[in-house]
Amino acid sequence: MTALTLSTAAAAGLRADAIVIGVAKGTASRSAGLVVAPGAEAVDAAYDGKLAGVLETLGASGAEGELTKLPSPAGFKAPLVVAVGLGDEPGKDDAYDPEALRRAAGVAARALTGSKKAAFALPVDGPGAIGAIGEGVLLGAYSYDAQRENGAKNGKAKNGKAPLGEAALLGGKPRDAAHKGALARAVTVSEELNRSRDLINMPPNDLTPEAFAAITQAAAKEHGFKVQVLDDKALVKGGYGGIMGVGGGSAATPRLVKLSYKHPKADRHLALVGKGITYDSGGISLKPAGHNETMKCDMAGAAAVFAAVVSAARLGLEVNVTGWLALAENMPSGSAVRPGDVLRMYSGKTVEVLNTDAEGRLVLADALWAASQENPDAIVDVATLTGAMVLALGTRTFGIMGNDEAFRAAVHEAAEEVGEPAWQMPLPEHLRKAGESQVADLSNMGERMGGGLFAGLFLREFVGEGITWAHLDIAGPAFNEGGPFGYTPKGGTGSAVRTLVRLAELTACGELG
Ligand code: BES
Ligand code: MN
Ligand code: ZN
Repeated sequence: MTALTLSTAAAAGLRADAIVIGVAKGTASRSAGLVVAPGAEAVDAAYDGKLAGVLETLGASGAEGELTKLPSPAGFKAPLVVAVGLGDEPGKDDAYDPEALRRAAGVAARALTGSKKAAFALPVDGPGAIGAIGEGVLLGAYSYDAQRENGAKNGKAKNGKAPLGEAALLGGKPRDAAHKGALARAVTVSEELNRSRDLINMPPNDLTPEAFAAITQAAAKEHGFKVQVLDDKALVKGGYGGIMGVGGGSAATPRLVKLSYKHPKADRHLALVGKGITYDSGGISLKPAGHNETMKCDMAGAAAVFAAVVSAARLGLEVNVTGWLALAENMPSGSAVRPGDVLRMYSGKTVEVLNTDAEGRLVLADALWAASQENPDAIVDVATLTGAMVLALGTRTFGIMGNDEAFRAAVHEAAEEVGEPAWQMPLPEHLRKAGESQVADLSNMGERMGGGLFAGLFLREFVGEGITWAHLDIAGPAFNEGGPFGYTPKGGTGSAVRTLVRLAELTACGELG
């Protein structure tokens, strides 16, 4: 991964391949047209204060996502200036939005693939900006190359270039504890988020439930938390009918993984539950071609929970965090669950399976009930649960549902704070009726309209009485099938990781749950 440093050096004397600067769209009242953002004063001065005009001549406007390259002015050691758009210039007394900095840093880091070193001269007004730029660089420089012939060996991307080697953040103070702390947090969270992207991108023939469980065990040893793995035998014995039902069709047997991070001084307990379908073929209700090519991403919720627990452990947060990964592969076979089967769930409730492609809610039901047995202060589950949520909110926004309005709003606020677009969705009671079964306590299918909300209502049935709970449906943002944007690559995105880490931090300081 790209090495990050804080630097007080002057831009002109820096030995680097490029200097990254920010440009914005000036507000009409102050300065119409492109403006050069703070941090790039030295570069602008070397252009005789005419940098904005030069960039406009090259077609730059300051729009978000825009990238313009130009040769450095005389006297600069770095040969190249890379100007990245920050969107609208903030008001007179406001700072640049951290998310705009994060995205711009990501765009620049991706464009600088193959370079050894770059200096980032973006507007820095404090530790928040340092953290955002650091995250943007590390997340934007990511690429998944483990499967290429030489990828794992030389760390080179498909175009034969290695990711940006080093980024020096100018304006960062290497001796300031708050700056150092913000950078260290950004490095930890970004490393774990990138690892979760690796897991999502890993082909499903390699990442079986068993392999996923083994990866968590290795991480636990390294970072000092506990892992307990229930294998198929233990799951049958324990009565986990949901997980066993869904995993029954695959030669790769299911697992329920419990990750426990404990802080000796903690008095609060946050439980995180992740959907971990390592491949979702739909099962006997098989998905048609065109709907299954990306379904290796159906474990993105479990990957996010894993990344959040490891981050909490590495950051030493003063909170107990338990992660539950419900791992199974949904495949059709002679031993697969059939439409019409009734499963006895871990909670004791029975569920008639009317569509084997509505499998996520079945594995989550068992994991939610297991999590509830410890009576945590709050439970948050994360799942690529429904296509309906993608239709409702698009591919960049996740839905938040839950049984407590204040908690749901707090989760939304945390998501916005870390730069993850999210929206609150209701759980309308009238939709439950469609999920009544002729033969069992309930069925796993509701009506088609509002399918994402019915899935949430189904999950609610398996949350212990009186426990605060939120459900994040990340089916849209978990996997990017389009081109890269901001700090988001193609493929696995690491959606919800930063929100979960923030929730753990807020729980630690008693502001949540
Ligand atoms: N894993 C899918 C949901 C999904 C869709 C994730 C698109 C990512 C992108 C889930 O298991 C599923 O198949 N849901 C069905 C439920 C339906 C059968 C009630 C769906 O949304 O169509
Ligand atoms: Mn499915
Ligand atoms: Zn699924």
